[in-house]
Amino acid sequence: MFSKKVPRALVAGNWKMNGTTASLAELRLLATMLEGVELDCDVMICPPASLLTAAHKLTRGSIIRLGGQDCHPEPHGAHTGDIAAEMLKDAGASAVIVGHSERRITYQEGDGLVRAKAQAGHRAGLMAIICIGETLEERQQGQTMRIIAAQVKGSVPEKATGANTVIAYEPVWAIGTGLTPSPPEVGSVHSHIREKLSGLIGEHAHAVPILYGGSVKPSNAGELMAIDNVNGALVGGASLRAADFIGIIKAYS
Ligand code: PGA
Repeated sequence: MFSKKVPRALVAGNWKMNGTTASLAELRLLATMLEGVELDCDVMICPPASLLTAAHKLTRGSIIRLGGQDCHPEPHGAHTGDIAAEMLKDAGASAVIVGHSERRITYQEGDGLVRAKAQAGHRAGLMAIICIGETLEERQQGQTMRIIAAQVKGSVPEKATGANTVIAYEPVWAIGTGLTPSPPEVGSVHSHIREKLSGLIGEHAHAVPILYGGSVKPSNAGELMAIDNVNGALVGGASLRAADFIGIIKAYS
């Protein structure tokens, strides 16, 4: 549909705190829909940690990769309720989302902690999907570019490369609301992210995929993917049903 992009695009679904074993039927359906299909993008599902092992079994032989939704910076220890990056890897994940705004806001996770979690992901051999994004108030005050620059600087490890890191730009006000920034707005933030990454990690910056996230659906995915420096999508609600998610994947490949 669109010319091949560099870096290779990634369409990742974040199931958030949704899904029991019954929901694996959607994953099975997605795997079936993708059988034998040639794609120009990678596909990932980040289910709740409780489903990772079963999801791993189910997606063996499929192009679907798996990710965790968060991790603790330490590899093990007395951290009740937390999960280590090494545990996610052991359960079949190849990536971990860190710094999602739902964690930054609900648990006051700052850039330093997000960076430590990304480093934990790297230590465990996982790709870190580092989320950044401004709130509605910050956008209205004209602070978007400053906030994004600070989050890149504070959250991205210096050893980030295209092989171990993905950035997801997710305006907080666009998540789960049906609202999205205009294509020129998305484009200007993504090129700003690329520029700030260059300042931080030099030539590696060009190989780091920058995903857009926030109310991505089959009907707007094509328009978003056509924007410069948009290398895929991080999808919440529309990743829960295989029929919706496949529509997004097709727009990106
Ligand atoms: P949404 O969520 O697609 O439901 O807006 C995106 C996200 O939080 O990653």
